Amino acid sequence: MQENYNFICSPQLRPVLNNLYLSKKSIIKSVELNIQEKRESIKIFDIGCSHGYNSNIQLNFFISIIRDEMKCNKLIEIIHADQEKNDFTKLFLHINNDLQSYLKKWDNIYYYSRGSSFMNQLVPDSSMDIIISFCTLHWGDENEPSLKNIRYKELKNGGSFISNLCAGKTDEQLQITEDCYRGAKDIFREMANEKILSHQEVYDMTLPLIFFRKSIIDRVLENMNEGFKRQAEKYVFLDWNQESREATTSKNNAIKYFVDSTLGYQGGYIKKEIKGDEKTVNKIYNQFYNRFIHKLESNPNFNISFDIIFLVLKKD
Ligand SMILES: C[S@@+](CC[C@H](N)C(=O)[O-])C[C@H]1O[C@@H](n2cnc3c(N)ncnc32)[C@H](O)[C@@H]1O
Repeated sequence: MQENYNFICSPQLRPVLNNLYLSKKSIIKSVELNIQEKRESIKIFDIGCSHGYNSNIQLNFFISIIRDEMKCNKLIEIIHADQEKNDFTKLFLHINNDLQSYLKKWDNIYYYSRGSSFMNQLVPDSSMDIIISFCTLHWGDENEPSLKNIRYKELKNGGSFISNLCAGKTDEQLQITEDCYRGAKDIFREMANEKILSHQEVYDMTLPLIFFRKSIIDRVLENMNEGFKRQAEKYVFLDWNQESREATTSKNNAIKYFVDSTLGYQGGYIKKEIKGDEKTVNKIYNQFYNRFIHKLESNPNFNISFDIIFLVLKKD
């Protein structure tokens, strides 16, 4: 059982890394404007940082454009945000100690963190040069992906907003994937029926995921024209079995890899809602974990795949 997202997040990273190049022009323009306007620092806002491993790699890409290609040694301030229940200690340990951390690679960089939902405005109006958010925004409101207004306010003029999120092209494909996630909540409901924990504890857990249908994303993008200008938009397909092949050799290993990766960042939130001392919490959680794996193993339709939209938007 893996409870650190940093050790099991490569399938989420690859579709980001493969497409970051799409944001390069936009980043350069945002930074050039920052330099031209003699702003005090370059501010980068990372929404949905989790425990930091993927964020650090993604940020290294952006910082390398600024430092190595643009030869700009200006002060860079990075704000990492996630839900208040996120284990920020894991993020701090990673950023402070990892040899590949942006802090170790470059000078004149400071970071801060913010624990609150991205459904809220998290930083002052017009304060950020670059906002990034990967594999996160599909957790938004069911009717309206929280792509637009809040992030628009937070960005400075000329700022770039780079994100990717799950956006299903076909209902059928999404349904199968969602059912796998929904299975987790069903197991907790079963356990509540068996009086292992209460229905309130289950209700409070941050599960399952909701994925936006393509029609919703299209509507949001269509309405975006007044503010954001779309610099790049690309749909990529992520087949979980394929992505996890390097780490797995069989269907059952792919299932375990999926469960560990999902619970790598959600496990901590789930545990926080279970009442009792550490021993009780771990016992209930372990029972859930084993049931979840068993449920997916006995599901002949197990198949996790996502259509992911990669977006580069610029505030004009
Ligand atoms: C799959 S992880 C993505 C981590 C990382 N950005 C990456 O690229 O791998 C999704 C993160 O989104 C966070 N998240 C989910 N809902 C959120 C919300 N409403 N506000 C802030 N963060 C949220 C979760 O806590 C989790 O850390």
